[in-house]
Amino acid sequence: MNVADMTLRPATLDDAAFVADVLTEAHPDDPEDPQLMRHWWTIQDPEATVERFVVSVVGADAGFVSRSHESWAKMPERFGRIGVCLRPAAWSAARLDALVAAMEDRQRADGARKVTMWAWDDDSQHIGMLKQRGYREERRQRFWELDLVAGRERITKMATESRERMKKEGVRILTLADDDDPQKFERLKRMSDEAEADVPTTVPHVPLEMDEFMKWLQSPGLRPDRIWIAREGDDIVGISQLAYPPVRGIVVTDWTGMARKARGRGIARALKCETLMQAIALGVDRVRTDNDSTNAPILHINETMGYRRRHDGIQYLKEL
Ligand SMILES: CC(C)(COP(=O)(O)OP(=O)(O)OC[C@H]1O[C@@H](n2cnc3c(N)ncnc32)[C@H](O)[C@@H]1OP(=O)(O)O)[C@@H](O)C(=O)NCCC(=O)NCCS
Repeated sequence: MNVADMTLRPATLDDAAFVADVLTEAHPDDPEDPQLMRHWWTIQDPEATVERFVVSVVGADAGFVSRSHESWAKMPERFGRIGVCLRPAAWSAARLDALVAAMEDRQRADGARKVTMWAWDDDSQHIGMLKQRGYREERRQRFWELDLVAGRERITKMATESRERMKKEGVRILTLADDDDPQKFERLKRMSDEAEADVPTTVPHVPLEMDEFMKWLQSPGLRPDRIWIAREGDDIVGISQLAYPPVRGIVVTDWTGMARKARGRGIARALKCETLMQAIALGVDRVRTDNDSTNAPILHINETMGYRRRHDGIQYLKEL
């Protein structure tokens, strides 16, 4: 397919590393891991629509563009997503605009009613293009970083207090590797789906199928002995895990979630403390996380754990 002076070819899984390179080149402070990107591409609902293209200019690969949406049966609100990034050397406002226009056309033809796109709050060129195309700010994602070297003592103290509290609460904190319940994955998924449904979002969340959930846990950034869970009686009531990028990037919270009935008792904090203590023991010097800017409990936890804000991610929305 040709768009302006660019050629688009469908991306295969082998192009994921290139896309991670392009994103890293464009945003060096937020490096993307090629293996995590490839793995992420394998996790999609079997009924979802996902199109990814490698963009080339004069025969040389210069970026990517993508569009996706859940099946309309599972998401009747009909939101679509668009992603785009060009290498700095190939970047121009006109090219970016043409690529987004092409994806909007494909989303519209496919029945989408609204599309969302993300931008860093300090990427004025990208934001300028979005505004010109009629996008408006919908939501912010707060990005944070925690210095594990400077914060070591404070985090260790918090972890000790959390362990005491969990003992008193009768809650066991352990890794998934140490849990011998044959039904642990089903229990974990039920709990995780419940928590995910409570993350503030504009684009409705469609729960993963069990197969996709299992694939997620097999990420090259995760390991069963680094996935921390909370048990109360027969139930798994919480989870927190850091993803360790195998090739490049910063260790980052992959997911933290709690069963509704067990919230407000310090369990999420206790789980997060264990992930941090483990990272410190492994020699990690800093970790990152990001949360929706209206998610009060997790913002409060992260702030009081000593995370410092970085730039925000902004979600833009356009009615088609
Ligand atoms: C976010 C979540 C994991 C917190 O779990 P939790 O076990 O209730 O958390 P904790 O009890 O350890 O800590 C909650 C803290 O937030 C505070 N808090 C709760 N609601 C709050 C609110 N509306 N405003 C400000 N602070 C709030 C609590 O007082 C507590 O603070 P404290 O430790 O200083 O007393 C849980 O609410 C959840 O699963 N939400 C849905 C999934 C989600 O949003 N995950 C994280 C983002 S990806």
